[in-house]
Amino acid sequence: MHWMRRRGCPVALLSIDCFNAGSLPHEDNVIFVVSTTGQGDTPDSMKAFWKFLLQRNLNQWWLEGVHYAVFGLGDSGYQKYNFVAEKLDKRLLDLGAVAIVERGQWLLLKEVWAMISTLQGSSWRDGELPSQC
Ligand SMILES: Cc1cc2nc3c(=O)[nH]c(=O)nc-3n(C[C@H](O)[C@H](O)[C@H](O)COP(=O)(O)O)c2cc1C
Repeated sequence: MHWMRRRGCPVALLSIDCFNAGSLPHEDNVIFVVSTTGQGDTPDSMKAFWKFLLQRNLNQWWLEGVHYAVFGLGDSGYQKYNFVAEKLDKRLLDLGAVAIVERGQWLLLKEVWAMISTLQGSSWRDGELPSQC
């Protein structure tokens, strides 16, 4: 991620259990890297985040203005291959977020960053990173 910072793009890299899901609407661009465990289950570190996202009172505009990409880590030997990435992608769309990468299109992070830069223009702001734990 150093190369992103060097190019003037402030980046916070953190485990999802260190991220306050309630602050998601305040993010401009979020890249999720999620794995699938069990039989299509979320890893323990993602359970609280996922439970929050499934709340019924969140509407289709909740994530308006948030751009995201989901990268899935899985094993095609399992029946529910990359299930968590798939369901996270669907839920983010339902909540009004905008995908910057088509689902199932696995690009290099550098390419994702190039897309974010295009979307964001010169409006990257310093000092607005989520807190890391
Ligand atoms: C107990 C167990 C259950 C898993 N279940 C799934 C699954 O349902 N779907 C899937 O796509 N991958 C599944 N995986 C694969 C993991 O997601 C994968 O091992 C992980 O992303 C790390 O990749 P690596 O093994 O190449 O390091 C499972 C792995 C383990 C050990």
